[in-house]
Amino acid sequence: MELNGTSAVITGGASGLGAGTVRTLTALGVRCTIFDRNETGAKTLAEELGEGANYIGGDVTNPDDCQAAVDQAAEGGNLRIAVNCAGTGWVGRVINKDNTPHDLSAFKFIQELNIVGTFNVMTRAAGAMAGQDVMNEDGERGVIINTASVAAFDGQIGQLAYSASKGAVVGMTLPAARDLSVVGIRVLTIAPGLFDTPLLALLPDDQRTALGQSVLFPKKLGDPKRFGQLVAHIAENSYLNGEVIRLDGGIRMPPK
Ligand SMILES: NC(=O)c1ccc[n+]([C@@H]2O[C@H](COP(=O)([O-])OP(=O)(O)OC[C@H]3O[C@@H](n4cnc5c(N)ncnc54)[C@H](O)[C@@H]3O)[C@@H](O)[C@H]2O)c1
Repeated sequence: MELNGTSAVITGGASGLGAGTVRTLTALGVRCTIFDRNETGAKTLAEELGEGANYIGGDVTNPDDCQAAVDQAAEGGNLRIAVNCAGTGWVGRVINKDNTPHDLSAFKFIQELNIVGTFNVMTRAAGAMAGQDVMNEDGERGVIINTASVAAFDGQIGQLAYSASKGAVVGMTLPAARDLSVVGIRVLTIAPGLFDTPLLALLPDDQRTALGQSVLFPKKLGDPKRFGQLVAHIAENSYLNGEVIRLDGGIRMPPK
């Protein structure tokens, strides 16, 4: 796919991996719609990037907000890329220290955000992309890139809800790619390891350094721009499809 002149919608685009994606794609000539619950953060980034970016506030768990974001991204025509980065984690074991069960509302909240949020944007973006002309001789119409986590495979102690949600994002990848193959839309998932985003910035410096040292190579937390680079490569390389790609410096997470 030729990126220059296309449009993209990026959920969670105001921060971290989503912002890294927005920066990379705008530099490559992609018009980015930043869709984030943090409207102020989305506005600030869009203003910094100028003409190449616009923003819309909203919640990925709300289907109407997702439709509005996709509609806005499609306004200029040529909506070819949807990247799902909105999401978060949760720490909680199957049973608490006093043997009471994992909080159900927390479990449901994480599934709603990480799975349903991804589903909402994927389905609406696919609908908009499917109605467009093909863009190249392969018959391509677009690409959808979702974000899982290495926790989908190496879930640690306390990651029950988070790993369940990211496992579902992994599980949706192949059937979604198969469903959308008839309309020339590819679906891929990136499973990041440990990235230096506001999520991890909450940890003290020594803990962040120790986490970086636990990466196989290079021994540091990932820069969000590496995530953006992979998004751009996936979008450009039309032969990538239906796959989950770990982006993790070779890390395999221990039990804790
Ligand atoms: N940072 C890491 O090390 C890491 C590792 C593996 C996976 N991930 C995954 O990558 C994704 C992005 O993580 P990040 O580190 O960039 O986090 P982040 O907190 O920096 O950014 C997440 C963004 O999503 C937005 N958001 C949250 N809930 C939303 C909602 N309901 N609707 C719309 N926007 C919403 C937030 O406002 C924020 O701007 C998440 O799904 C996370 O699970 C991150």
